[in-house]
Amino acid sequence: MTGSVLVIGGGGREHAIVRQLASSPQRPVIFAAPGNPGTAQLARNIALDLADAAGMVRFCQNEGIDLVIVGPEEPLIAGLADHLRHGGIAVFGPGALGARLEGDKEFAKEVLRAAGVPTPHYQAFSTSETALDHLDTMDLPVVVKACGAAQGKGVAVCATRDEAEAFIRDCLDDQRFGASGLRILLEDCIFGPELSVLIVTDGQDYCLLAPSRDHKRIGEGDTGPNTGGMGAFAPVKLPPELCAQIDRRIVLPVLAELQRRDIPYRGVLYAGLMLTAHGPQVLEFNCRFGDPETQVVLPLLRADLFELCAATAAGELGNYLQQYPAGDDIPAGWTGGGVSDWGRRCVVVVGASDGYPGGYASGKAVEVPGDSGESWVIHAGTRVGEGGLETAGGRVLGAVGNGADLDEARARAYAILAATHFEGLTYRRDIAARGD
Ligand code: GLY
Repeated sequence: MTGSVLVIGGGGREHAIVRQLASSPQRPVIFAAPGNPGTAQLARNIALDLADAAGMVRFCQNEGIDLVIVGPEEPLIAGLADHLRHGGIAVFGPGALGARLEGDKEFAKEVLRAAGVPTPHYQAFSTSETALDHLDTMDLPVVVKACGAAQGKGVAVCATRDEAEAFIRDCLDDQRFGASGLRILLEDCIFGPELSVLIVTDGQDYCLLAPSRDHKRIGEGDTGPNTGGMGAFAPVKLPPELCAQIDRRIVLPVLAELQRRDIPYRGVLYAGLMLTAHGPQVLEFNCRFGDPETQVVLPLLRADLFELCAATAAGELGNYLQQYPAGDDIPAGWTGGGVSDWGRRCVVVVGASDGYPGGYASGKAVEVPGDSGESWVIHAGTRVGEGGLETAGGRVLGAVGNGADLDEARARAYAILAATHFEGLTYRRDIAARGD
């Protein structure tokens, strides 16, 4: 099989996807829309209007694109995958019905409840008066969530009533998140380490990629405000009984509930879990690869990403997975674990602009060392300006290290970050420091 693939998006996740596709023995022709300076080294970047679905379909038909991989959630929630499929294009990414799991948190909770999957208790509100009345009945801390997608900024863990009231009013009265915040969830706060589980499914069959752990807070020791993610590592080593619990009590019932509702799903379903003292619970779903998790999960693939995504898009995942049977090195109970290499570890440390996740300066010159095979830099918020490569975002890049164990992978990630320069570069020094 050879072919051409279009990757939609222009962040770190998409550079990681393009990098992995470029290592495929199939040597696919790779396009990225819009891509970034990292993808430009491996793919042809194309300026397409992602909101113009008809134009996207035309481009794919004219170029003979065999597969589209949609990176970010916005186009999926808006139904881009549906338009492309109607145009006869194979797509890795759910249609609008499936993407609602990320675009509507109340809907996701309903699916979880119907599937009998553990998730924190919640109530939904559309007015601040009713929300504030309910808040007075809750224990602190409390979690307030905008129901719609808000680029990772629509969730607040509030230690005090005043904080919770302010966030509720931000959403419902001041409409800080626009339509995405006109309905909110008030949710019980639960505690434990988080785990990101990426479920690749064609709606019938599925495989679980290596579990990863994001570090969402800006500050070391998990302090300060939430960000899109400041670093991650994979695989997280889990006890076999926990692997089986996640698979049997979370993944299987959710996929069965989607089938029961006749919701097709071909792509990756990201389950954000919390490993509580009472077992794993689902905090959220995303309808796409996580970022920065993708930067550490994809390099561990034994499977060819191009083939895996093409088989998923074609509804032929079950057949494809037969060549990756369970083995002694794969945690029992982790369905499809054979697609990943469990003998290696991967760590990414995000280099951010000073001030992120608040305001930050852009346009600072960036110097990036070359890819050694054991460590490399993923572009997230960079662009090419008049003077060359420069910063263009809060999370500017991911420094990735790969090794036989976590210490080696971590040391390599920090070493390549030390060789990376831009004014205002800031990062957490404790990514993956606590181990599993
Ligand atoms: N790293 C969190 C996310 O991708 O949503």
